[in-house]
Amino acid sequence: EQAGKGEYDHFMLKEITEQPTALAQAIEGRIDATSGRIGLSAFEPGSFEAIDSVQFVACGTSYHAALYGSLALNQAGVQATALLANEYSVAAPPVDETTLVIAVTQSGETADTLNALRQATAEGARTLTVTNVVGSTAAREADDALFIRAGPEIGVAATKTFSSQAVILTLLGQRIATDLRGEPSADLESLLPALESMPSRIHELLEHSNAEAIAEQYRDSQSYFFIGRGLGYPVALEGALKFKEITYEHAEGFAAGELKHGPLALVTPETPVFAIFTGQEDEKTLKNAEEARTRGAPVIAVCPDGHPAVEAADEHLAIPETDSDLAGLFANVQLQLLSYHAADLLDRPIDKPRNLAKSVTVE
Ligand code: G6P
Repeated sequence: EQAGKGEYDHFMLKEITEQPTALAQAIEGRIDATSGRIGLSAFEPGSFEAIDSVQFVACGTSYHAALYGSLALNQAGVQATALLANEYSVAAPPVDETTLVIAVTQSGETADTLNALRQATAEGARTLTVTNVVGSTAAREADDALFIRAGPEIGVAATKTFSSQAVILTLLGQRIATDLRGEPSADLESLLPALESMPSRIHELLEHSNAEAIAEQYRDSQSYFFIGRGLGYPVALEGALKFKEITYEHAEGFAAGELKHGPLALVTPETPVFAIFTGQEDEKTLKNAEEARTRGAPVIAVCPDGHPAVEAADEHLAIPETDSDLAGLFANVQLQLLSYHAADLLDRPIDKPRNLAKSVTVE
């Protein structure tokens, strides 16, 4: 096992560091630069024309990627929702042959997700899985499979698979929107170069991150809160999930605008607030962060250098200036590093957190 980790103390850090390669593999051959279209070879042009709405089903980190994908689709004008797969049997919205149900699962073996996929199939929906494992149950059972090509992930806490899922869902969303409209959307023009430069920019972020120092600075806190808006919201949820999974500390993610509707009661000088800025109504998120700071909470802004939040916050985790469709994914890498270093300082068994399994094959 040690050999598989190479120069790293933990698989998690190795897998965080592998993200530039994983993302380059995810994107490779899937962007047709001449037509500006998303070339997903599994799907003929126009193959999503008959789709009216999309339902994502997933669990855990994959659910956060699914939520990211559903918000991106909504922004592209396509009706989409993300549902927890374990809630699907009691609360699935109706489906028919114009509904595309997308099971997002890195392993392709999560029982809850397979159950939701089977239910959707039985009720007549068209199905697709976005997975990392060729030959997995989800890949065999869904009508179509789209592989994220992230390579093996050993750490129980998903890292590179989340980034690859979110990028593939962004591509897929654009492709579905293109089929429905008959032409690519205007924002594809700025998105494609941003996607292509993502691997090298993540590499740069990993080289210069100060997440370890921030983890050290706030190591004695009582709780850790993560807030974001739009595509920053699933990233806030994922930041908190990663943090609690491997540090065993209390962490929660909120939609930035929800803070004032309840969670603000928890905010004290002992609860650092990590505020994620994705370029979507950042001024509102800044106001929300300032409300927490007024109550004495340290605020750590996750945003580009020179952003107004840098001055307004106590600390800063830097992300590059990029398309707002992708900014949250850079923020997520900073938060992965934060969780990793916080857990390492606490000497937790990072790759195998207590009570958790990489793939949960029981209901
Ligand atoms: C388990 C893992 C999580 C993962 C979830 C869904 O709970 O501990 O890290 O996000 O399963 O797994 P999947 O393979 O469906 O993505």
